Amino acid sequence: MNEQFSIKDKVAVITGAGGVLGGSIAKHFLTQGAKVVAVDIRKEQLDKRVDELKSYGDQVIGIVGNVLDIPALEKLADEIIAHWEQIDILLNIAGGNMPGATLEPEQPFFDMDITCWDKVTNLNMNGTVYPSYVFSKVMAKQGKGCIVNVSSMAAYSAITRVPGYSAAKTAVANFTQWLASEMALKFGDGIRVNAIAPGFFIGDQNRAVLINPDGSLTDRSKKVLAKTPMKRFGDITELNGAVQFLCSDAAAFITGALLPIDGGFSAFSGV
Ligand SMILES: NC(=O)c1ccc[n+]([C@@H]2O[C@H](COP(=O)([O-])OP(=O)(O)OC[C@H]3O[C@@H](n4cnc5c(N)ncnc54)[C@H](O)[C@@H]3O)[C@@H](O)[C@H]2O)c1
Repeated sequence: MNEQFSIKDKVAVITGAGGVLGGSIAKHFLTQGAKVVAVDIRKEQLDKRVDELKSYGDQVIGIVGNVLDIPALEKLADEIIAHWEQIDILLNIAGGNMPGATLEPEQPFFDMDITCWDKVTNLNMNGTVYPSYVFSKVMAKQGKGCIVNVSSMAAYSAITRVPGYSAAKTAVANFTQWLASEMALKFGDGIRVNAIAPGFFIGDQNRAVLINPDGSLTDRSKKVLAKTPMKRFGDITELNGAVQFLCSDAAAFITGALLPIDGGFSAFSGV
């Protein structure tokens, strides 16, 4: 492995590590020699994930944590510093859509349960902002650090049926640019903040809208593939290299970027 792309011995806090994407990236980071702090709100899920992660490397600890609880995040930061003395990387992966916040095909926006809007925007926006608020302070003190957020294709143009998720992921993209500028202007070039914008990957949060119970593609997934020049869904492991790159010295002059990982979806007009 080229040294420039190395994340060896870096301490990486991964929120949502009990989930699909966070779990996949945590495994990859361990195989690359990083020290992983796996954080998730679901204890049982996290315990299972940490057991599994131990077969990829022993430099892993699991801590139950809520990305919406600032005092708990501050305690978490103290625990990590006590254990590994520094925090090099924060991956804000906890998030996702939820059923009540996804409109049925014929359902008008004004019939949506507004409490679901509140929940989905809170988790996806503040669930990125709050950990950044706590951990950027640690990074400012260290004079170095790297944050990677998870935005979405919805940040580029509207995606039907998911208004709250879209609004929050667009906020994540904007917040990424804002925090990147803020940290570089006030604390120098050692602290970088970027985001990835995953295209369409089959995961628990979207399986039902993309795949019919008989395994065939839904009308929605046919539309997705028609607008994806590579004509396929992503494999979750195809995010790993991009996240590693953004956390490595190879990306030393990259901050405030939103990197699409989408088989060309965001580049293509569909015509
Ligand atoms: N799967 C996809 O196709 C896809 C595409 C684009 C973006 N994303 C984004 O990637 C991220 C992860 O998606 P995923 O598919 O792995 O979802 P997932 O549901 O498998 O994982 C999310 C994890 O976050 C945890 N979590 C939820 N609320 C939390 C809280 N308050 N504090 C701490 N942890 C909490 C959950 O317990 C879960 O383990 C999300 O931000 C999602 O929006 C996913």
